[in-house]
Amino acid sequence: FYIMVGKLNNLLYFTSGACEGSLACSTCHVIVMDMDYYNKLEDPTDEENDMLDLAFGLTETSRLGCQIV
Ligand code: FES
Repeated sequence: FYIMVGKLNNLLYFTSGACEGSLACSTCHVIVMDMDYYNKLEDPTDEENDMLDLAFGLTETSRLGCQIV
């Protein structure tokens, strides 16, 4: 299950990021709710995808919030 802690810019945030954007934790996992917004984002890097693989409840529009906000 998720604990949703916030909603901002069409993103659902489940936690805040613990590593301050250094791609070391995946605690900033977000699900982008708006496909138009999602499609405007740069593709995730291999490093982001590796961390996303560790995120609970991964979806097709999951990203790491620290890499897209
Ligand atoms: Fe740790 Fe985003 S804050 S990966």
